[in-house]
Amino acid sequence: MLTAHAVIDLAALRHNLARVRDYAPESQVLAVIKANGYGHGALAVAEALSTADAFAVARLEEALKLRKGGIEHPILLLEGVFDPGELGVAAAHGCEIGVHSMSQLEALERAHLHSPVTVWLKIDSGMHRLGVAPEQAAEFYQRLQKTPSVKNVVLMTHFASADEPETGQTEAQLALFNQCTQTWQKDLRSLANSAAIIENPEAQKDWVRPGVMLYGASPFADKDAHELGLKPAMTLKTRVIAVRDLKAGGSVGYGATWQATEDTRLVVVAMGYGDGYPRHAPSGTPVMINGKRYPIVGRVSMDMITVDIGDADIKEGDQVILWGDNPTVDEIAMLCGTIGYELLCNITTRVVYHYIDSENPAEVR
Ligand SMILES: Cc1ncc(COP(=O)(O)O)c(C=O)c1O
Repeated sequence: MLTAHAVIDLAALRHNLARVRDYAPESQVLAVIKANGYGHGALAVAEALSTADAFAVARLEEALKLRKGGIEHPILLLEGVFDPGELGVAAAHGCEIGVHSMSQLEALERAHLHSPVTVWLKIDSGMHRLGVAPEQAAEFYQRLQKTPSVKNVVLMTHFASADEPETGQTEAQLALFNQCTQTWQKDLRSLANSAAIIENPEAQKDWVRPGVMLYGASPFADKDAHELGLKPAMTLKTRVIAVRDLKAGGSVGYGATWQATEDTRLVVVAMGYGDGYPRHAPSGTPVMINGKRYPIVGRVSMDMITVDIGDADIKEGDQVILWGDNPTVDEIAMLCGTIGYELLCNITTRVVYHYIDSENPAEVR
């Protein structure tokens, strides 16, 4: 019987891609599968999302793993190559390349690639992390057009606050991007991450770049995945390894941070920060056992979590759901002062991955 394991439902991934297409019917989909497919297993995600138009990763090594696994779609390196020596490898493996800096532009100008590459020119419309300043964009664009190693240019930018529409920052970034790129009408454009796909249809343009919504998590703090029509793809599970009675006044775990106010029963479950469950999850964070939610109590340790079950009839071996449909990863993240993205990415190698297809149960791998 499995202890800590992550069940990934390939049908949920496909469902979420279909939702992206519902939200952005006119756009091509660049599915963002960096950081091991947001912790879901990049290769399995790419295979499940084979109807996506292209994939995006952050680093060349991530793209090479996908190629080795047989993925033939276009793959974009969102941040481009980090040194000029990587250009030839990236091009030889059919990668498309982000360009956000002068050194990357110059490397492309000097390169002698066997076949020219598609370049995604990243314009900094206000996030101020990566990207070419709007006033430099024309120079970059013109030089890229003249570079023999460049096949064509896609114009892109990234939003800083698409998940906080009330700030107005997305509209300001969109306006600046539109103004800066208005003379280059023939070129394709890409702006929208998950939050903008849902919240800013006018930002969808030619290519949308969904990440978190593909995995069935919400990009917004105040809207949950179900409300957005998304299905959580990962269920993080384990089982009960001990049932203990605790007297009123007794405490549990490191630092004795929680004390029973009355006689109660605790279960110990095989899951901890050594599996990627957040150590800072406070007492009260829910888990699901036999269809009912119970609060974790005391500190999360490396391998174990304690749960107050009151007088419920729960036995050793019973299954525990840490996140999935209920509670969602976003709910747990909120209680821990973080975002679902981080929890999904933090699953460690000790957790066993199990892939299912809830629409085709025979297809389990
Ligand atoms: C450039 C870029 N585009 C798109 C995404 C996808 O964002 P999200 O997961 O919020 O949809 C990311 C993720 O960080 C990104 O860095």
